[in-house]
Amino acid sequence: MSTMPNRLAIPSDASSLPMTLPRLAEMKRLGEPIVMVTAYDYPSALAAEKAGVDLVLVGDSGAMTVLGYDSTVPVELDEILMLAKAARRGLQSPFLIGDLPFGSYEVSDEQAVTTALRFVKEAGCGAVKLEGGGPTSLARARAISNAGIPVMGHVGLTPQTSTALGGYRAQGKTAEQAMLIRDQAVALQDAGCFSIVFEAIPSELAAEIMPQISVPVIGIGAGGGVDGQVLVFHDLLGIREGLGARFVKRYANILDEMVDGVDAFAKDVRDRSFPGPEHGYSIDHDELTAFRGDDERD
Ligand code: KIV
Repeated sequence: MSTMPNRLAIPSDASSLPMTLPRLAEMKRLGEPIVMVTAYDYPSALAAEKAGVDLVLVGDSGAMTVLGYDSTVPVELDEILMLAKAARRGLQSPFLIGDLPFGSYEVSDEQAVTTALRFVKEAGCGAVKLEGGGPTSLARARAISNAGIPVMGHVGLTPQTSTALGGYRAQGKTAEQAMLIRDQAVALQDAGCFSIVFEAIPSELAAEIMPQISVPVIGIGAGGGVDGQVLVFHDLLGIREGLGARFVKRYANILDEMVDGVDAFAKDVRDRSFPGPEHGYSIDHDELTAFRGDDERD
């Protein structure tokens, strides 16, 4: 009998296996809901890892949630790359996707491929995401995909171009808009996207488009008829002020807890109840005496 370990043994907890694109496609085929969440640093990635999510997106929403910009437009590529590198360090199993920030892919196919390569080589992303389904986004998705980098598409509300869409509002509410979104989704799939995000579109529209899309569709404000759901980490955990969009479900109020914690610390410092003896270090009595003697000699 061989004493060699069985290297092909499947772990008892298969959910801890690294997510792959074939596995993702399989999840769609089997109708298993796909869980995606954003992360922007080591602790948020660690939370995603420990919760066993399938996909992690370093979204350009990080421009607002962690960098404090008032939209996703101003954020620089190097800023998002730094967030992606930190997130990478907290992840083992989920598949990591980097969001191409506004201005980092529109100029030319070459610019888009160069940017996508940085996400893969510098930040260890498995794929990138880009917004929009118009001619420019389609060309860039095709170019990046042809360069061997998996691309996720994103239609409906696309925050980078929200000014052109009339603000942060649901899309696809007229027949004309709905047809455009359907055509863009099909075109992104044809351009080679391995998955597509549907954001803030009517649930009925998303469900009507689904039969034409063979790649996994991840919804955010697109109803339950898609293959998976994504929420922004800070929205779902309540680490930002305000209620957020209609599609947000809040599972915690962490910002309140953060404020309460810092507030309690400030009170303790001000009334001198912190630090207590248990938070300090001690020195051996003889050492202290010797130190004091040295002090006297000086
Ligand atoms: O940047 C982001 O967080 C996103 C998700 C909402 C899909 O694009």
